[in-house]
Amino acid sequence: MKKTTAAITAVNGWVPEFRLTNVELEKMVDTTDEWIQTRTGIVERRILQDKTKASSDMGAEAVKGLLKKANIGPEEVDMLICTTVTPDMLFPATANIICEKVGIRNIASFDLNAACSGFLYALTVGARMIESGAYKKVVVVGSDKMSSIVNYTDRTTCVLFGDAAGAILLEPNHEGLGLQDALLKSDGTGKDLLRQKAGGSLNPATVETVMAQEHYITQEGPKVFKFAVTKMADAAEEIMLKHGLKGDDIAWLVPHQANKRIIDATAQRMNLPEDRVMVNIQKYGNTTGATIPLCLWEWEDKLHKGDNLIFAAFGGGFTWGSALVKWAYDPK
Ligand code: UT7
Repeated sequence: MKKTTAAITAVNGWVPEFRLTNVELEKMVDTTDEWIQTRTGIVERRILQDKTKASSDMGAEAVKGLLKKANIGPEEVDMLICTTVTPDMLFPATANIICEKVGIRNIASFDLNAACSGFLYALTVGARMIESGAYKKVVVVGSDKMSSIVNYTDRTTCVLFGDAAGAILLEPNHEGLGLQDALLKSDGTGKDLLRQKAGGSLNPATVETVMAQEHYITQEGPKVFKFAVTKMADAAEEIMLKHGLKGDDIAWLVPHQANKRIIDATAQRMNLPEDRVMVNIQKYGNTTGATIPLCLWEWEDKLHKGDNLIFAAFGGGFTWGSALVKWAYDPK
């Protein structure tokens, strides 16, 4: 029998209804629709307006829909990994709360934080669990309520982020489909350039940290851009070279959606035309852990068994990487 690989056998996404458009943002901060579109590619983003709902609620919706699509019950899932930078609270893990909301009990569930590369990391961890033979149905869910940490008076960040969740199911495969390889990297020298400064053990929440607005996301955009634009393209190129793949061999690039210009640079390096690159940043902005599964969800009908997909991401930390995935099923 061929060795066991971990295939993505179902995908699902969930986005809140409310659309925060660039035109609306023009009324909130000193910005323009033109600036946002030309610098980032974003036109609107979704916001979870219900103050009683959190990342776990979006994640739970994504997972419920996923199980329905896969036609399996919650009792069949044996591991759930949630990647998020906006957990409901520091602990317990949002993964545990999602399980509770979906009716999944007595399984291994935990959060994984690798910022905007979180989905790539969680996919890899989940796949290795399947390959080990110890787990048969692993759910990986990326869910971020970015609006909970965005400062809507800071034009350098508030235009970038949106709220969403995306989920995939991983199952054993014996045809060689699914995750083929992943290159995961990090460099902690970037730790101060993109972060939420307060709320952790270094700067616990105090009146002072709140007054100083340190519970919001801050980013030194141009410095992060410089790193992101090279590292994401490097990672995509490295995995192609490692596997002897040329642009023509790749059906789709599935990139993290932080900036259209970063996505374009990565596609160019891979020698891929625009029509083989998944881009939905214009509709959702940067949804951190959810960007890659949201793309898979939207493009699911165009994916065919055996297609080579390259996933690529870059995020705070810094973290970055790429994955080579052979798609496991035809449009249903
Ligand atoms: O997903 C995690 C990883 N994150 C990323 O990959 C994000 C990487 N960074 C970026 O995508 C870009 O750096 C941004 C989109 C954040 C910013 O674009 P930029 O082309 O790097 O612009 P900039 O920060 O250099 O700003 C250019 C100008 C500045 O004004 P001056 O100094 O030239 O007068 C900014 O103050 O644009 C100004 N600016 C704005 N103007 C209108 C910054 N934000 C805005 C805004 N509206 N929202």
